[in-house]
Amino acid sequence: MARPKKPPRWLEAARLRNEGARAGQISRPVGWGDWLSRSLARAGVLPLRDAEEAIRAGRVVVDSREVTEPLAPVSVEKSVVKLDGKRVSLTWRTRVLMLHKPAGVVTHGSDPEGIGTVFDVLLAALPFELQRFGWHAVGRLDRDTTGLLLFTNDERFVAHATQPETHLPKRYVARVSGVITDQKLATLRAGIKLDGFTTRPAKAQRRAEDVVELIITEGKYHQVKRMLGEVGLPTLALHREAVGGLELDVAERTLRELSDTEIQTHLRFEVRAG
Ligand code: URA
Repeated sequence: MARPKKPPRWLEAARLRNEGARAGQISRPVGWGDWLSRSLARAGVLPLRDAEEAIRAGRVVVDSREVTEPLAPVSVEKSVVKLDGKRVSLTWRTRVLMLHKPAGVVTHGSDPEGIGTVFDVLLAALPFELQRFGWHAVGRLDRDTTGLLLFTNDERFVAHATQPETHLPKRYVARVSGVITDQKLATLRAGIKLDGFTTRPAKAQRRAEDVVELIITEGKYHQVKRMLGEVGLPTLALHREAVGGLELDVAERTLRELSDTEIQTHLRFEVRAG
């Protein structure tokens, strides 16, 4: 019986590298080998799915050789890449978008129930010149949560903004049922035990009789709703107003691109300038 074919070694290595990068263990030095499909998406040549299709269809040539494997290694600086016979550049810079998420759409990409995703909202709001990038959502908001959601073409930014070590504050406002007492606010500030972990010290204040403002520096699953639930304040509506020093300042279902200065000063991330 024929033995199953082992994947080539470079492919395994690329997979491992990418898993490490996604887990935030590896930061890619500039000029380091990368995957062809991701490089095309990051540089705004084609969105990821389209890039994969184009590569499989034989439309992409790297250093005079047709490449049909989307995970083939490529050098952003050195490889000569052509799409449909035309030279394309893989050079890229960090881009970050702020989107005002409406309620009712999910943050993950797959949508078997046809609910609608933030990527549908993003695509509808993107100006033409930003449509060919591969965009990653930076963290998640629940389906019914509204407010500030970031997207980026730079996977390192996703790791930076979502790993708890970064301590990036996120400010939420929640409309709750129940009486917001000083004692409950003090408990929220001090840290709450949730399924085997204690939340970090947070900032909490009453904004109105039924509205709490909560600033947390981590982002565990349903964290705000669970924290409020623990102190007897079930959430009726949740909105994210700010991430780091960045305040949501666009209308619902619209977006804007952040400047390098905003990314550096408000989100504490060293941009790649291209
Ligand atoms: N915490 C939650 O409970 N939900 C969100 O969407 C974000 C933070």
